[in-house]
Amino acid sequence: MTNFDQIIDRRHTNSYKWDKFPETVLPVWVADMDFRVAPPILEALDKVTQHGIFGYARCPDELYEVIIKRLATRHHWDIEKNWMIWLGGLVPAIGLTIRAITQVREAVMTATPVYHPFMIEIEMADRELQKVPLRLEGERWTLDFEAIEAAITHNTKLFLLCNPHNPVGTMFTREELQQLHDICQRHGIIVCSDEIHCDLVLDSAKEHVTYATLNPEAAQNSLTLLAPSKTFNLAGLGCSLVVIPNDKLRAKFVHTKAGLMPLLSAYAYEAALAAYRDGAEWHAELLTYLKGNHDLLLKSVNQMKGVKMRPLEATYLAWIDVRDTGLTDVAKRLEEAGVGINDGSIFGQPGFIRLNFACTRANLEEVLRRMKTVFA
Ligand SMILES: Cc1ncc(COP(=O)(O)O)c(C=O)c1O
Repeated sequence: MTNFDQIIDRRHTNSYKWDKFPETVLPVWVADMDFRVAPPILEALDKVTQHGIFGYARCPDELYEVIIKRLATRHHWDIEKNWMIWLGGLVPAIGLTIRAITQVREAVMTATPVYHPFMIEIEMADRELQKVPLRLEGERWTLDFEAIEAAITHNTKLFLLCNPHNPVGTMFTREELQQLHDICQRHGIIVCSDEIHCDLVLDSAKEHVTYATLNPEAAQNSLTLLAPSKTFNLAGLGCSLVVIPNDKLRAKFVHTKAGLMPLLSAYAYEAALAAYRDGAEWHAELLTYLKGNHDLLLKSVNQMKGVKMRPLEATYLAWIDVRDTGLTDVAKRLEEAGVGINDGSIFGQPGFIRLNFACTRANLEEVLRRMKTVFA
């Protein structure tokens, strides 16, 4: 049994997450977890270190096999080895996709609020950013299909989909994805489906649906972004995967990427292999722990004055509505109280905060105590 309650001091380790704030602040912002990785991953990394030679690496054949099997069994998706392209990160994959699929000044659409690099990468590539707000249906955020269709212009060439969605935690259903697909097919729009959070399903009754499995046209007109980094806490190792079934799209992507991205390290490949091949038990325990944190956060936050959190279907990133607190500068007030969150404005929705609950229960309880002093 993994002890996810074990407190590991991450301060002064040059952690992006922990060393951003003064020591008095508990950081619950950027999306990495405060848990040690699964023992098989540590063993695999130790083996690379002990070998002591760090030349150029290639992807182990076994990693291809493990991923092909995993996608077939978990996501009912049969892929071929040559559809896979390795990259050191998915943010670069987003930037490359935009440049490979669209021309300067063409438009790229996304549903907001959304993981901020989606918007940043579109603008950095000098493309037009078309933002369509998500729609609240009961207690669940979903795509607003009418608004999407109305916002499409002849200039729209690419839709950046986040599924499961960061920051609102929605897992889009097959029917919802089918509706998006129908719209995109009608308008000749390619879909880039970022599914980095697909193995962080909190609601065990739900199953992740991969966009490319909708039908052969969806597979041929999409790129799927995957990585073990969120699920197995390997973000700093840089091991990400883009799956592109369509030969022409894949050729464009490879052409755009040429010379810009370094090869992955042996650490990245070996960690990914160990995670996907030997990490199932740890992963199952992680999901149980995260669900416990989610439920505690949901109950506690909703008792605070003017604060509203809706249950998440996936991810460890809570999306919390603080508009009715009547407070301004919530992020600053929370930081002064010792809680470091992300302000919703960076994702395109001020009045919300995003809180990463992939931390020890004890730290989460302390975060909640401190939040109560702000939202008393
Ligand atoms: C939706 C989404 N895509 C991509 C990333 C980051 O990917 P990478 O660290 O591989 O660049 C994140 C990180 O939080 C994310 O939430």
